[in-house]
Amino acid sequence: MAGKVWRSTVLQALRALKNEILQSRSFMKTVCLIPGDGIGPEISTAVMKIFETAKAPIKWEEINVTPLQGPGGRWVIPQEAKESMHKNKIGLKGPLKTPIGTDHPCMNLLLGKTFGLYANVRPCVSIEGYKTAYTDVNLVTIRENTEGKYSGIEHVIVDGVVQSIKLITEQASQRIAEFAFEYAKSNQRSSVTAVHKANIMRMSDGLFLRKCREAAEKHRDIKFTEMFLDTVCLHMVQDPTQFDVLVMPNLYGDILSDLCAGLIGGLAVTPSGNIGAEGVAIFESVHGTAPDIAGKDLANPTALLLSAVMMLRHMALHGHANKIETACFDTIRDKKVLTKDLGGNSKCSEFTEAICQKVQDMD
Ligand code: IPM
Ligand code: MN
Repeated sequence: MAGKVWRSTVLQALRALKNEILQSRSFMKTVCLIPGDGIGPEISTAVMKIFETAKAPIKWEEINVTPLQGPGGRWVIPQEAKESMHKNKIGLKGPLKTPIGTDHPCMNLLLGKTFGLYANVRPCVSIEGYKTAYTDVNLVTIRENTEGKYSGIEHVIVDGVVQSIKLITEQASQRIAEFAFEYAKSNQRSSVTAVHKANIMRMSDGLFLRKCREAAEKHRDIKFTEMFLDTVCLHMVQDPTQFDVLVMPNLYGDILSDLCAGLIGGLAVTPSGNIGAEGVAIFESVHGTAPDIAGKDLANPTALLLSAVMMLRHMALHGHANKIETACFDTIRDKKVLTKDLGGNSKCSEFTEAICQKVQDMD
């Protein structure tokens, strides 16, 4: 009995010491922050406030990624932002607008290319108390981020005829397939579905599928299935609970990941991460800049906050991640303080404050 008491006292002291060390500045990790346009700055402020309240050991280094035209007219990310990302490896990003009608590149594509972010990961998990047409959705879409229909190879063959090339390589397919199985394993998920149209695009999707099958052979502890994209869509709207991890080429992933976000309430509540080699990653909210409500303290910071929670998990800061995620979900479940889009009447700052209060209540 005395031994038990002694053990629990020692454990308690160790836990307190660990927390103290984690909170000390020497354990702070620096993350690049791209607040974004429109509502970006407001939701970024909300995230920083909640992180500070939760004593997450993160220091923010704001970077400006507005592209510049380099030699030969090529758009590039400013050198300073590149250096900062290379040093810190991890970034958090709010929505960025891409000016229409200019030859300004799409920021997501440019950032992905610059930092080699080959995997887009979007967990879609039903939020208790936030009613949608579905309950118990718990799946993750993993999208190849660098090629497919996004290779940007398009040309006019003759007037009125345009060709767009879908590029699929063995290297990128193998890398994303491996990633999907590794992700499933390290996130306690049990199955991976490869999404494809290899019945029609026999060579390109055929290659992608072959690489998925090969990865499946190496990871026999994870169940593997393959399904045509259209069949996935059909089954997804009928019963999304049958899916776990889904891996797919770029264009299918763009479409299916938004569809899946819709199952749990939309882009305002869905987190996202773009992962590259050697731990490099940018986590982001994938909704738009919402210029109509920008600066009015009306935005919903949930997607950016949950993306930041994903970021904490990526950095193995699971305690802080769980605490912040629980505070966010509890606030939504309570229904007392919600932003307009979530069915409430509160301001972004009030919703943020309510989450901070939950964090404090957990201490
Ligand atoms: C996304 C976006 C981007 C995409 C756009 C902005 C190019 O929709 O992150 O899914 O289609 O990849
Ligand atoms: Mn998209």
